[in-house]
This record gives sequence, C-alpha cells and structure tokens, in this order.
Amino acid sequence: NKCGKRWHYQENNCHPLFLSLYVDKLPLSIRVMLEATIRNCDGVYTKEEDVQNILDWQQQQNKAEVPFSPARVLLQDFTGIPAMVDLAAMRDAVAKHGVDPSLVNPKCPTDLIVDHSLQIDFSKWSLKNQEMELIRNKERLQFFKWCSKAFKNVNVVPPDVGAVHQVNLEYLSRVVQLSDGFIYPDSVVGTDSHTTMINGLGILGWGVGGIESEAVMLGQPVSLTLPQVVGCKLVGSINPLTTSIDIVLGITKHLRQAGIAGKFVEFFGPGVSQLSAPDRTTIANMCPEYNATVSFFPVDQVTLKHFKKTNFTQEKLELLESYMKAVKLFRSYEDPSEDPEYSEVIEINLSSMVPYVSGPKRPQDRVAVGDMKEDFQSCLDEKVGFKGFHISKEKQEIRVPFLHCGQEYQLAHGSVVIAAVISCTNNCNPSVMLTAGLLAKKAVEAGLVVKPYIRTSLAPGSGMVTHYLSTSGVLPYFNQLGFEVIGYGCATCVGNTAPLPEAVVDAIKQGDLVACGVLSGNRHFEGRLCDCVRANYLASPPLVVAYAIAGTVGIDFEKEPLGVTSEGKEVFLRDIWPSREEVQQTEEDTVISSIFKDNIECSDSVVFPWDPKSTYIRSPSFFSRLSKELPQPQSIENAHALLFLGDKVTTDHISPAGSIARVSAAAKYLLSKRLTPREFNSYGARRGNDAVMTRGTFASIKLCNRFMGKPGPKTLHIPSGQTMDVFEAAERYQRDGIPLIILAGKDYGSGNSRDWVAKGPYLMGVRAVIAESFEKLHKNQLVGMGIMPLQFLPGQNADSLELNGKERFTISLPDTLSPRQQLSVQVNASFMSTHVNPDLCSTFQ
Ligand SMILES: *[C@@H]1O[C@H](CO)[C@@H](O)[C@H](O)[C@H]1NC(C)=O
Ligand SMILES: *[C@@H]1O[C@H](CO)[C@@H](O)[C@H](O)[C@H]1NC(C)=O
Ligand SMILES: *[C@@H]1O[C@H](CO)[C@@H](O)[C@H](O)[C@H]1NC(C)=O
Ligand SMILES: *[C@@H]1O[C@H](CO)[C@@H](O)[C@H](O)[C@H]1NC(C)=O
Repeated sequence: NKCGKRWHYQENNCHPLFLSLYVDKLPLSIRVMLEATIRNCDGVYTKEEDVQNILDWQQQQNKAEVPFSPARVLLQDFTGIPAMVDLAAMRDAVAKHGVDPSLVNPKCPTDLIVDHSLQIDFSKWSLKNQEMELIRNKERLQFFKWCSKAFKNVNVVPPDVGAVHQVNLEYLSRVVQLSDGFIYPDSVVGTDSHTTMINGLGILGWGVGGIESEAVMLGQPVSLTLPQVVGCKLVGSINPLTTSIDIVLGITKHLRQAGIAGKFVEFFGPGVSQLSAPDRTTIANMCPEYNATVSFFPVDQVTLKHFKKTNFTQEKLELLESYMKAVKLFRSYEDPSEDPEYSEVIEINLSSMVPYVSGPKRPQDRVAVGDMKEDFQSCLDEKVGFKGFHISKEKQEIRVPFLHCGQEYQLAHGSVVIAAVISCTNNCNPSVMLTAGLLAKKAVEAGLVVKPYIRTSLAPGSGMVTHYLSTSGVLPYFNQLGFEVIGYGCATCVGNTAPLPEAVVDAIKQGDLVACGVLSGNRHFEGRLCDCVRANYLASPPLVVAYAIAGTVGIDFEKEPLGVTSEGKEVFLRDIWPSREEVQQTEEDTVISSIFKDNIECSDSVVFPWDPKSTYIRSPSFFSRLSKELPQPQSIENAHALLFLGDKVTTDHISPAGSIARVSAAAKYLLSKRLTPREFNSYGARRGNDAVMTRGTFASIKLCNRFMGKPGPKTLHIPSGQTMDVFEAAERYQRDGIPLIILAGKDYGSGNSRDWVAKGPYLMGVRAVIAESFEKLHKNQLVGMGIMPLQFLPGQNADSLELNGKERFTISLPDTLSPRQQLSVQVNASFMSTHVNPDLCSTFQ
C-alpha cells in the first residue's frame, strides 16, 4: 500500500486464490472500497480487520463500521471557500512557527468547482449593482486561482457561462488515478449535492459535510457502516418513443417503491448497455429521491466510449481499460456469469416504460401516449372536471374555418395552437433535447411542416443547451419548424409567448373549441398558457414537436400519419423518430466539450496575501493558538451555559443560511466595514468570512432559548444578568476567560449539514454541548471541531436534574477518552437563582 506496507494475504489466512474467489462474488462498488482500504491500510486510520470486514461483506454488511479513503475530494465553491480559507490560514500559522508554509497541502487530491455561488449571485443581479458584484466575485475568483497555484493537489475549475454540472463532473473524472507510481480506481467524496451523479460513470462517490471533506483532504478516511448493496437488474428493451427522461423517471419510481434508503444500488443485467453514460449519470443523480447512498454503474464499453469524447488520450483509455479489467472492475453486462451476489435483487423490465403525457388540466393526470386519442375523446364526453369538458355529441365534430396570412385553415376540438419546447435543467438531459432536435431535422427532411398559426417556441435552459443544439446542427431545423429561441430558463418560457393570432382566438370562441397547448417542462402548469386554451398537456420535447406537426392531440401515432407531404406521401412518427443510437452518437459528439478558460490574474506567493478590506475572504482565527506540540484534551472548568435549548434544535437555528437581518450582530459588523444593507449578501455567500459567520451563529429568529421569554437570537449573559445577542454574550465570556457549554434537548443538530454549524460555536468559545440526543452527522462535526458532544444518561435531561442553566459546569477529563465513556459533570449551583422558563420550543411549535 501507499505507506510502503505490504499486504500479506497469507498472513491473514487469505490465499490469493481464495481472495479471488471472494472478490468475484463482491458487488463492484464494494470492490472499489476493498481496494481503497487495502491501499490505505496504515494500522491507524485503516486497519487489517477493516480489510477483512470488507472481504466478509456477505456477513458483515450493515454491521461492521469501515473506513473509506476516497481517491479525491470534490468541493463546490459554497463549501469550498471555507475549506480553502482554512488551509490558507494554516500556512500562515506554520509560517509563524518558522516552518516552510509550502508544506501545507491537501493530502488528498482536491477539485474545486467554482460555478455555483457565482451563478446564484448572477441570478440576483440587478443592473445597478452589477459592477460591484463583479468586483466581489473577482475577489473570490482570485483567491481560488491562488489556491490552484499555491497548493499541490488542488485543481480549480473556474466558472464558465454554461454551468452544467454534468460537464464539469465528467471533465474532472479520471476513472483511474495515477499518482506516486500507483494506479488505482477513482472515487470521490464531495460537498456538492450532485456528487452522486459521478456513480453513473463507474466512479464511487457521495456527498459529505464540509468538515468531513476537510478531514478527507487532510488524509483521514470517512467512516461508514458497510452498506447493503441492492442489485438492480435491467432487462427488456427500450420502447422507441421512450425518451431518456421517461426511463430515468420510471427507474426512479421503481426504486422509490422498493425502499432502499441508506443502501447502495448497483446496476447489472443485459438492459444496462442500452443506457448511455448521460442516462446513467442522470439516474445516479436522482438517488436522493429514493434515499440510496449511491446508484453505481460499473465501467463497461459504454463508459469507455463516452470517455473517448472527453480529453482522454488514447494511451490513457487503454490504460484505463486494461487496469479496470485486471482488477475486475470492468463489466460485460451481457455475461451473467460475472454477476456478483447482491443483498437483494430488484428486476426492472425496460419494455414496461412507455412514454406519457400529462393533462389536460393537472400534471398528475398521466396518459400513455398510445392512449392519447381515446383519452382526449373521453375528456370531451365527460362532465366538467379535471378530466372533462362536457361537449355535447353533436358539437364534437365541429370544424371552424379561418384565414391566417391569406390562407384558409380549420380548427377542431383537440387542435394544437401552442407548442413550447422548454428545457429546464431539472427535467431535461441533453439527449432529450437532442432527440427533439433530430426529430425536427428528420421532419423537415421528410417535407413536413408545422402549421403557421401554431405558436411555437423554444426555451433552452441555458446557453449551454443552445450551444449543443447549435453544434449538433439541429437548431436550424427547429427554426424551420417555427421553434425559435425566445429566452432562457423555465421562468421565461411561457410568459414570453406572443399572443395567439386574433383569427385563431375568434375561431376557438366561435366553435367553443377545446384547443390545446403542448409544452415540455414541469413548471407553470397552473399558470395556464392562455385563457382560450382549455387543455394543456405536458410532454417530452420530441413529443411537443410531434404534436405540433400533427396539429392535434387526437392522434394515434401507431395508426395515423403525422402528416402528409406536398407530394401526398404519408409520414408516420416512427419513420422520422431518431434511434437511441443516433441520439447517443450525436450527444457523445457534441455535448461533451472542453470548457476550460483561464484568464484571472493572481499572486504567486506561498502564503495568501489577505486583503484586510475584503469582507468575503478573511483569515479565520482557528490556528491562532497553534503550537508545535500535539494538543491534549483539557478539562472544562467552571463553564457557563451560553444557551439553554429545548428539543429539535436544527442546523438552521445554529447557523442560518439566508439573508443577514439588519439588526443582527453580523449586520453591525458589515456596517462597521462601511457596507450598506443592500450589499450585505447572504450568510451563504459570506462563508469565507469567519467574522460574519461567527456572528451569524445562533442568529436565527426562531431560536428558542429557555433563558428568554420568546424566540429570537438573544441570550442571558449570566454574570451581568443582561440580555444581548448570542454573539455579544459569547464575546464577553471569552474576554473574561470563561469557557462555555450549551444545554440542549433531543435531536440536537438535525437538518442540513453545513460546516459553520460546528465552526461557529467553536469560535464562540463553546467547548461542550450537553444534549439528550444528537443528530449523528452533527455529532461528527462537533467532534471534528473539538467540541465535546455529551449526552445525558438515558432518561435524564436538564429538567429531571433540576438544572436551570445558570449553574457553573466543570467537566474533568480522564487521561484516555473513548466513545460512550461515562463522564461526570460537576455542577456548582451556589450561583443559582430560581426562575426557569419552560421549554419554549414545545410551546412555539
Ligand atoms: C419485458 O416486458 C415485455 C413486454 O411487457 C415482454 O415481452 C418481455 O418478455 C419482458 N422481458 C423480460 C426479460 O421479462
Ligand atoms: C427519504 O428520507 C426522508 C428523510 O429521512 C424521508 O422523509 C422520506 O420518506 C424517505 N423517502 C423514501 C422513499 O424512503
Ligand atoms: C482534462 O483537462 C483537465 C484540465 O486541463 C485536466 O485537469 C485533466 O486531467 C484532463 N484529463 C485528462 C484525462 O487528461
Ligand atoms: C462555585 O461557584 C462559586 C461562585 O462562582 C465559587 O466561589 C466556588 O468556588 C465554586 N465552587 C466550586 C466547587 O467550584
């Protein structure tokens, strides 16, 4: 392994042949963990028994706790800033002790993706402060740029117009890592919520909290219960009209029903090779929907083909393939003899997934495309309701002629008058938009047109979508069918559609027609397209194109032609529907493109030149007391309780994420830096400034502190008896050298993990939290910051012990500490006054 230690299989009664037999049965995701554990086995963080436990996965799953050292860390800028700021501060600290600061580097390779927070800033832009925002962003970009230059093992991906995570993730994928003469499988933990996407490319990875990711950067493994692995067997072949998004949603639905929370899902079976790499990453990205830890697609020929389109060299591809084959991490899905043994198997027949549209009034009313004609007919018959318009029989056949641009047309019930192709990043992956584009191309080539009175529009989700529609050559065909780009994003799509031609509106009124709108995208359904359009259907982008060409929703694509060419030739949808292979090929050729741009100046210095005027990036004080000696656990003497909290205090109470209230301690600080409230920005954007974040700790207006009579970010400074901001009280205690603890009830620290939920209290001087119970992740974060999470004995709490929070607390530590060890806390009550508020949280919930 990396530490120069050889792993002797024989020593552990584990002959290579025997090992190989074991490994052949292990799910491939577990093989990745096994490899990482063997390679990192140092006897300290990762021990031989951990390797043994993973080998014994069949028996040990869901039991043994094992370490996992990923090959790299992926930081998204929101959480990446504080992590990198900490490392930069570490360099300052060691330099002060006369040590070479360039020795401070992440041990684990780290990728930092910059797009996210900038995008959010962009969306908040108003014209007035645009310039100022640019300058602010520049500050952070310069810092990142410095990081990539100054630190070894740090790779920064700067922002680019097309903030497509998928591209970024693929761009950063290595599949196999080459470092220090070792070749090993890529794996990752990340603070980005989209980290799980990467499992679609055979790279094991999941999301962790900011402090955990910092620990991994510094060489510590994450710890997890050896997971159960659900094998998801894909069989059957995909129905041609089914788009990737239908398949993704279909698989997601199956998995949600299967109840696989907290487990790994690994795909196998002959159906897997029908899914393209982007299909796989989309499915993998959905795993929070069904609470799986990961959805893993082992590397196969499709993955390899995909990487050919990235910047992988031929040499690297060959290495990748032979290495993955040699270590049995490469799958041929067609060969069932290679199938591992899973904890359980779910079978999904891909043929069962047929395309659907939703409507005519509510998104939850789904209709299989094959049943559409019949369903619309029954909607005409039914009495008025979600699925009915109640049109009398004799009026159902009505045709209303009208003139448009000098030509006569007819409208009937079911006529399509609005067709909008909308790409929202959350409901479209590139292949779906490309399917629509290729369909448009083939329709034009076959001589089909969209009737000119139909309001057609195209709203790509981002510049990136327009970019690939354009490079793949389909955009002109969209335009020829009348689908012109009208704007970006979901919000603009419907509102921007031009009004319907007057003649169309008149014809609809004259015949009291049920005219239809067809659009892709899942938002703005209730915000109806137009008053005179009574039926609104949601469909995939290619089906929007198909219904626009047909001019009606009352069509059975199987039996009726989509249109007739000017030569009188009937063209069916199946004649022009692009094959999955064609779509996948186009996608591979055009979507995966290099976007690296590099033009921001930064300093060459080894330590970061902090700008004292910056209110975004500031050196935190974590290391001000750094010494060359290892710190020893220290007893806590005569501490005061900073807060006396009830049950269910969430991370939102501890470190609120949103805007900075004008009367808060953070606001006072920013005002003192001559910022106006409009320039405050959010706590999220200011994570690189410890002064703001510490002041923001416990600044939630919903905080229920039993020292106070009502919820709010206030507390009692016990020695003076004064009420003040929590930060202000903490500052006074620190000035007086009084350590702090927090008293809390059940489930302390549940909710979203953010690293400031532990860093903030630490900088406030909190040394221990005594609670009835903790959320597990938060407990880890507290430990990571050196704050003791202490639990009352079962059945006890502050009330049962008759504490009023105003006592002083002394916690003496023995020389050695271990988890779940019982400690005694001395409570000095001589200070006590008697009044105590009841648990406010229960009163205010
Ligand atoms: C999948 O479903 C289709 C149609 O329902 C059926 O014909 C086929 O036999 C099924 N395949 C498997 C492997 O079950
Ligand atoms: C996923 O977990 C959340 C939170 O623990 C829970 O509310 C939800 O019901 C779970 N969903 C599924 C499908 O298990
Ligand atoms: C692709 O390019 C990026 C940026 O130059 C680089 O970090 C990455 O290692 C490259 N990938 C491969 C496989 O060469
Ligand atoms: C208890 O607190 C009082 C007041 O601060 C102090 O005088 C006394 O020494 C404390 N007793 C112990 C045992 O710490």
